[in-house]
Amino acid sequence: MSTTVCPEPAPADGRAAEDALVMRAQADPLLPRFHFTPPAGWMNDPNGLLQRDGLHHLFYQYNPEGPTHHRIHWGHAVSRDLLSWTDLPIALSPARPGEGPDDDGCWSGVAVVDDGRPALVYSANHGGRQAAALAVAADATDPLLIEWEKDPRNPLIAGPPGELPVTDFRDHCVWQESDGSWTQLMGAGTADRGGAVLRYTSTDLRQWTYRGPILVGSDWRGVPEDPWTASMWECPDLIALQPAAPDGTGGQARHALIFSAWHQGHPQETLAFVGDYSEGRFRPARLQRVDWGGRLCYAPQSYLDEAGRRIQFAWMPEARDERGVARAGWCGVMTVPRLLSADGDALAVEPVPELTRLRDRHEEIPQGAVDGARPASSICGGGLDIELELSLDACGYAEVVLDHAGDEPGSGERTVIRVDRGPEGCTIRVDPSHASHEPGVEARTVTMPVRTRGDADDPVRLRVILDRSTLEVFSDRRALSARVYPTDPESTRVVVTGARARVGAGSVWTMRSTRRAGRRLRP
Ligand code: FRU
Repeated sequence: MSTTVCPEPAPADGRAAEDALVMRAQADPLLPRFHFTPPAGWMNDPNGLLQRDGLHHLFYQYNPEGPTHHRIHWGHAVSRDLLSWTDLPIALSPARPGEGPDDDGCWSGVAVVDDGRPALVYSANHGGRQAAALAVAADATDPLLIEWEKDPRNPLIAGPPGELPVTDFRDHCVWQESDGSWTQLMGAGTADRGGAVLRYTSTDLRQWTYRGPILVGSDWRGVPEDPWTASMWECPDLIALQPAAPDGTGGQARHALIFSAWHQGHPQETLAFVGDYSEGRFRPARLQRVDWGGRLCYAPQSYLDEAGRRIQFAWMPEARDERGVARAGWCGVMTVPRLLSADGDALAVEPVPELTRLRDRHEEIPQGAVDGARPASSICGGGLDIELELSLDACGYAEVVLDHAGDEPGSGERTVIRVDRGPEGCTIRVDPSHASHEPGVEARTVTMPVRTRGDADDPVRLRVILDRSTLEVFSDRRALSARVYPTDPESTRVVVTGARARVGAGSVWTMRSTRRAGRRLRP
């Protein structure tokens, strides 16, 4: 027997306030136009990613009441092309106080299909503790999957196993084995052994047996340069790595265990162990970053689309302070959809090719030696896609500056993306420290090393995707996410500068908006 989850109606007098919040959020000039954002209010992790009958389903951690992390619901949107999204009714809402194990929020989880019926496995949050819960599609024939029924036996895993001193326990990765049984991984933190990923098995998706950890932080020795894996691993995502090329070249098939490193309430960054998974154990060979932007690309989840591609979305939190967020009325944006594949023994990350369909006005960036700052294009816009090939002499550098169109170069708001060829190889650095005149914006410079030699035979290929306050840089099949908050829409003229550098092919496009009008907090 199941109970139907009724969508929470907005109180009559709350409707006007909700409309006002949406109007405020949608009017923010820094709200991205082709990245997914909530209508207004708070959004964090992508959840329940699934493609079914052509429709991509994106669920997400959502607080429709305001731009703060509180009583989290599952928002829901669908898309046919991964570019434009249609809002659907909230899929999961917390139970009324005292009436269910998720009365403090429906936290992150995944979608699976159980004998033709989609199901959501998520973390029921109550009193600061999480437990595994299940909801199933009320009507498996509904292509939009609008209504969900929570399992009356929730929570299905009430708490962590006694085996390890587990301090934190939440988030899920679930798949069906070839014999029809189910495996579930849960993220965990331990008192003294770092993060962990715990394994459960089931024959019916409801009764789970604990089988031990697939990996514990202290198992990993690594090298001193490795990033810190922190004390808790959120949102584990175990995937089989696929070679990028259709002919099977481009990588050895292995596994990646992607997780979000978290320490005492503070998201750190998204990491991945690459190695082999078999017989319930993950044997890591190396540790890498999934994105070089630190906490600004967090809690990713991936899924196989109907074409067999592994697509990932991640949450880009804000870098403006609480007052800025409250003023904006919205908080949190998804990355562009990204394609994951194998790159030798590494996990490669690239934007999905579909994004190029949003390209609009085009200008070429003049080729030739870079000597001093010069406008590379007259295009200026809040949404840009830039492709640039740069070759550098030893110790050469080049900068792509999103600069203020009206000022002398270097005097107004500007975001600097710098490529250096040093003795250790090439690096790409994003410096947002002058990107905004708005007070209270965190502006941390971040660096991504690339394996490219940087000379004319192996130039640095840079892809920069700007969408108002989101900036994503891709190169060498690596990703770096940043947030920038220019107060003036003119602060986006593309200027190229540098020394001992040469521009090969280069292009700038403006990007079309995919945002729909008339969005509602509770569609
Ligand atoms: C990651 C996370 C998850 C949790 C969810 C709560 O950002 O902390 O571990 O399930 O967000 O919203």
